[in-house]
Amino acid sequence: MKAYRASLLWFAPHSAGPHAASPQALFEEDGLLVVGPNAQGVQVVQAIGAWRALKDSYPQLVVEHLPGRIIAPGFIDLHIHYPQTNVIGSPAPGLLPWLENYTFPEEKRFAAPEYSAQAAAFFIAELLRNGVTTALTFATSHTESVNALFTEAQAQRLRLITGLCLMDRHAPADLLNQGQGAVSGTEQSLRDTEALIQRWHGKDRLGYAITPRFAPTSTDAQLRGAGELARQYADVWIQSHVAENKDEITWARELFPASRSYLATYDDFGLMRKRAIYAHCIHFDDADRALMRDTGAVAAISPTSNLFLGSGFFDYEGADRIGFGYGLASDVGGGTSFSPFHTMLAAYYVGREGQTKPGLSLSPQHLWWQHTAGGARALGLDGVVGNLLPGCEADFVIINPKATPLLARKTALASNLDELLFSLIVLGDDRLIERTVISQAI
Ligand code: GUN
Ligand code: ZN
Repeated sequence: MKAYRASLLWFAPHSAGPHAASPQALFEEDGLLVVGPNAQGVQVVQAIGAWRALKDSYPQLVVEHLPGRIIAPGFIDLHIHYPQTNVIGSPAPGLLPWLENYTFPEEKRFAAPEYSAQAAAFFIAELLRNGVTTALTFATSHTESVNALFTEAQAQRLRLITGLCLMDRHAPADLLNQGQGAVSGTEQSLRDTEALIQRWHGKDRLGYAITPRFAPTSTDAQLRGAGELARQYADVWIQSHVAENKDEITWARELFPASRSYLATYDDFGLMRKRAIYAHCIHFDDADRALMRDTGAVAAISPTSNLFLGSGFFDYEGADRIGFGYGLASDVGGGTSFSPFHTMLAAYYVGREGQTKPGLSLSPQHLWWQHTAGGARALGLDGVVGNLLPGCEADFVIINPKATPLLARKTALASNLDELLFSLIVLGDDRLIERTVISQAI
């Protein structure tokens, strides 16, 4: 067992009602966080609270004192592409030309295992440097890219979920899932998915996500096969993209005219259920929102990406009115930053009302929740990660609120928790993260 004495930030249990509502952050100026192994030997939170109240219960404990620091849950990134690290900052008129001109050419390189391995090592180091301790991540359509990422995540004990990108049409030939002998690319992609589930899902902290890129790059047969696997393996995740861009939607509607909407296409193939995470979810009507709610699928809101690619603005009011789940995501490389602080600030911009659009001014506690406990709830990992309640895996960040001269000046003026959190969100980046601590196992 070990304890850390510092300021502590975490979230009240079930503070958010069925969905986002009003998450309640808890803050202890002079706190004690006690971590130790659970029955499986995994380091979890044993106790959290005021140092004064807890110190006498743990007289023998080694305490690391971190004056002036804030310990907070590790961040959860609900949607990111590890093969797109090099694609950050590639301007395009919109999603489809961006995919064609920048993203697909870079993703082709991941056919080479060495290229995948070095990209995976850089990517995971970058997540950790930014305080991200759980990520739901796209790989490419090459099994090598999936194996490389799982291997690196396992070595670092990162809680990481990924899967083979399913793409059997409408992409460059060398990016489509390849067949073997008499087996078609479509059939092979489904066999590979099943083999990868069996190899990686539930190993240490790793999880598998069935990953059709988006409906336009899959045939009916591939989506149907993915849906069958999703039914067969009920605790694996599903990830895809939906309703990000108007040209994408027009294309998806042409390809799947029998479905009620683009989103409904996924439901028609059995790809909407709990643990299904759809990136973007911008251009929805209320029937789509109700479909998300009723199936238990959730949105990975990707605000820096949506602003960069000009895709539109996630409608928080609509999501809360109908009541479906969501959390925050960087969507690197459409997204512009690995930093959760940049993503939270962009979510504030995207959400808020302005003189040309209605909206909600999200509180800093709400923004922070979306990137931690809210993200965990979206993944079905409530009480496992994203919070520091007793029993949660001990993934946390040590924040130095005086990391830059401006942060030092500004955070010293904060007279309440909201002011402090807002200063961190508006001015923060990787410099705030002094250390990222990952739950170890004995
Ligand atoms: N839709 C299909 N593929 C992608 C992708 O790689 N990034 C984004 N932002 N949207 C997509
Ligand atoms: Zn994406």
